[in-house]
Amino acid sequence: MADQVIRTVDLFAGAGGLSQGFAMSGRGYEPVFAVEVDPAAARTFKRNFGCDVYSGPIEMVTEYPEADVIIGGPPCQGFSPLGRDRDDESRSQLNELWRHYLTAVREIRPKVFVIENVPEFQRSAQFARLLELMDTDPVLRDYAHGHGVLHAADHGVPQSRRRGIFIAVRDVDEVPWPPPATHGPDTRQAYRTVRDAIADLPVTPIREEIGWDGDQQDLHLKRNPRPTSLERYRAIPEGGNRFDLARNRPDLLPRCWAEKPTGTTDVMGRLWWDRPSVTIRTEFYKPEKGRYLHPEADRPITHREAARLQSFPDDFVFEGTKIEVARQIGNAVPALLGRAIAEHVHDIAFEP
Ligand SMILES: C[S@@+](CC[C@H](N)C(=O)[O-])C[C@H]1O[C@@H](n2cnc3c(N)ncnc32)[C@H](O)[C@@H]1O
Repeated sequence: MADQVIRTVDLFAGAGGLSQGFAMSGRGYEPVFAVEVDPAAARTFKRNFGCDVYSGPIEMVTEYPEADVIIGGPPCQGFSPLGRDRDDESRSQLNELWRHYLTAVREIRPKVFVIENVPEFQRSAQFARLLELMDTDPVLRDYAHGHGVLHAADHGVPQSRRRGIFIAVRDVDEVPWPPPATHGPDTRQAYRTVRDAIADLPVTPIREEIGWDGDQQDLHLKRNPRPTSLERYRAIPEGGNRFDLARNRPDLLPRCWAEKPTGTTDVMGRLWWDRPSVTIRTEFYKPEKGRYLHPEADRPITHREAARLQSFPDDFVFEGTKIEVARQIGNAVPALLGRAIAEHVHDIAFEP
């Protein structure tokens, strides 16, 4: 048990995948405040963490509580890579949401802040501007920092997902990078796979709408595909994709794909049992959007399966409609990646 309470504020909190990881680390992190504009996600956060949640745009927050750690990252708004920009000057201005994140840092002056974003962010002109501010801003220059792109599978998540992570710690000499991998070829544990995560769930879900099974939320939801869709799913073997459909059942190939014989290989793809899954996005229930077919059943993965692949524990409760819950699941930082970040931060900033 942790002997110290470490107060966290989660900005752009979503359902709270990152906060869940911090909680799962068992190092004493406790959310005291969160900001989230999406009402369903804000309700999810409140339900699972019980702290004060501002359910609105960060632009409207006027006061922050005291805290030791700020976590979260302004959502990506299309970054232009460094050097490839005709107008570096204007693109390097941190946008509105960034300004609000940094306002929270200046007001709270936490011991640590963690920024999570798409990997591309770290190659953007805006990121270069952030690094410049870390040297020149009177508050920010008290922080040492480390950053890089972390692969969720390296930290026990049964999913291939890369996130850009930036960790800043006040009044330390350095922030070692990266947090050590626990899974994968360079470690003693193999990557966790789709089989590890979901093989115990029934192949045929029964419920169509979110409900309850005793005190556990049932998210293992059935869909009702049209007969043609079902036939398309059947034509795709484990690890296959739309090219198998073209080969096995050309009569079922939608015209737009027939006219585009090259391109992404994940469309209408089927997952492999013995590999980590592909990145779970917000529309994982639509096979035409990615490699989301179950490794053997003729259906896309269910909400429960997607939540497992994101390493949410089954007792985490989601609020909202099926579409809203899917968005929260797909947007989340996988909990186990959050836990790895939390442990690393603890070692640097809070070890006695
Ligand atoms: C990538 S998601 C966050 C995921 C979260 N860290 C997790 O682990 O579950 C980004 C979130 O920012 C929220 N958001 C976007 N603009 C916002 C704003 N202006 N104020 C507050 N939240 C905002 C979105 O609704 C979305 O839930």
